[in-house]
Amino acid sequence: LREMVKICCIGAGYVGGPTMAVIALKCPDIQVVVVDISVPRITAWNSDQLPIYEPGLDDVVKQCRGKNLFFSTDVEKHVCEADIVFVSVNTPTKTRGLGAGKAADLTYWESAARMIADVSKSDKIVVEKSTVPVKTAEAIEKILTHNSKGINFQILSNPEFLAEGTAIEDLFKPDRVLIGGRETPGGQKAIQTLKNVYAHWVPEENIITTNLWSAELSKLAANAFLAQRISSVNAMSALCEATGANVSQVAYAVGKDTRIGPKFLNASVGFGGSCFQKDILNLVYICECNGLPEVAEYWKQVIKINDYQKSRFVNRVVASMFNTVSNKKIAILGFAFKKDTGDTRETPAIDVCKGLLGDKACVSIYDPQVTEDQIRRDLTLNKFEWDHPFHVQRPMSPTTVKQVTVVWDAYAATKDAHAICILTEWDEFKTLDYKRIYDNMQKPAFIFDGRNVVDIEKLREIGFIVYSIGKPLDAWLKDMPAIA
Ligand code: NAD
Ligand code: UDX
Repeated sequence: LREMVKICCIGAGYVGGPTMAVIALKCPDIQVVVVDISVPRITAWNSDQLPIYEPGLDDVVKQCRGKNLFFSTDVEKHVCEADIVFVSVNTPTKTRGLGAGKAADLTYWESAARMIADVSKSDKIVVEKSTVPVKTAEAIEKILTHNSKGINFQILSNPEFLAEGTAIEDLFKPDRVLIGGRETPGGQKAIQTLKNVYAHWVPEENIITTNLWSAELSKLAANAFLAQRISSVNAMSALCEATGANVSQVAYAVGKDTRIGPKFLNASVGFGGSCFQKDILNLVYICECNGLPEVAEYWKQVIKINDYQKSRFVNRVVASMFNTVSNKKIAILGFAFKKDTGDTRETPAIDVCKGLLGDKACVSIYDPQVTEDQIRRDLTLNKFEWDHPFHVQRPMSPTTVKQVTVVWDAYAATKDAHAICILTEWDEFKTLDYKRIYDNMQKPAFIFDGRNVVDIEKLREIGFIVYSIGKPLDAWLKDMPAIA
């Protein structure tokens, strides 16, 4: 009798945790162990307070934990025992050296690969789950085979397409699962083994198999295409404001074309999250390394427009309020990079808050899921530092400490404020008592909606001066043009 297939996943983060929990739920015949070097993370996975907030995740973990799903810091033991090892460690942007600010930092990946080679005593399939540059599999293969002591390693690329906030839904019903492998008999056998895992719940026609390089590049390409849609609609939002068009109407009309489709066309203060910017920078770097500067330049624009959108928003706020926000209280509603997550990596709120603080505003921040510690930490980090666990912790300057308050309620955040900036599309911001909020604010009272969630007409009736991305401007705002 063949023993139970054993899976070990290195990296218990936003991807490793939910992905493995769903594999365990859907494959009762497979034992899944998620390992991490971070003791607090593993402790949290083993507690009632999971380390990440993701709708539906608690339920899945509760059903399998202790049965066929385990979380452990004993990395080497579980890697040694596994048949399939997923590597889902962080792959941030390099902050120094060759390719700094662009290339992927594969330090964590390489150390995981070396550790796998060191501790393995039996043949293994090693699966790239992290998003990595094209051709990483080749480098990993070299590390593994040069240190293999006769063990056979097969490398597969199996990038993850889940989005935060809908991770469980996305994992239950993925648009596709992508598996890339070598075109050798050994490679094809490994692909089949991994395919059998997903086939427990994903229809066969949705499991795509390719060569290694196509799988690696498809992940970068998919994120670049998605981000490009947002930058396209955001670029249009600036033109809408200048012309009196309404970006929601334009997006609706454009999205009705079945070749374009209606999803992912919401104008916003800018995209955030741990993936889009990092993966595009990585793509740009790979293009440059391959002698394709025109292609690199094309994708760079997606990030430039995103940065433009964030600074355009800040400029709009400052310009509307008589060109100064010095000592004015500004309420920030929402700090996470999107709703239904507590994740703040690359959130546009960081840039907007830094911009307002630079103009000496006092910001009062409320987010339903993000803690004060996290917010204060984010506001002190430099670009690209956030995903490097060993960066230098810098204290906030004493003036900034005073300029920032974090509160646990939208009403406290907005009390006596001159303006409100909505930076995350949390559902609860749609149903706040805006009359009550208005009554407690300084006048004129401004709302800058960076997510197009509020009912502009209703708010104008209450008395607010309202700015909403890509929407026809109030007379007030027309008189106070922002120079981006
Ligand atoms: P994360 O930072 O949340 O998790 C990574 C974990 O790996 C951390 O807990 C870290 O302690 C651990 N780790 C690092 N080195 C280790 C080692 N040598 N041994 C054991 N553990 C180690 O990152 P994430 O958001 O889960 O992303 C992981 C990868 O998946 C990245 O490459 C990312 O680009 C990709 N990805 C992320 C998303 C997303 O929505 N977050 C979606 C698709 C793909
Ligand atoms: C993304 C990809 O969607 C996912 O497939 C990949 O695996 C990881 O990267 P994620 O970053 O978690 O997922 O969330 P996503 O829903 O893509 O949103 C990214 C950012 O774009 C958020 O800041 C979101 O608010 C913004 N966004 C999204 C818009 O501004 N407008 C839109 O129409 C959609």
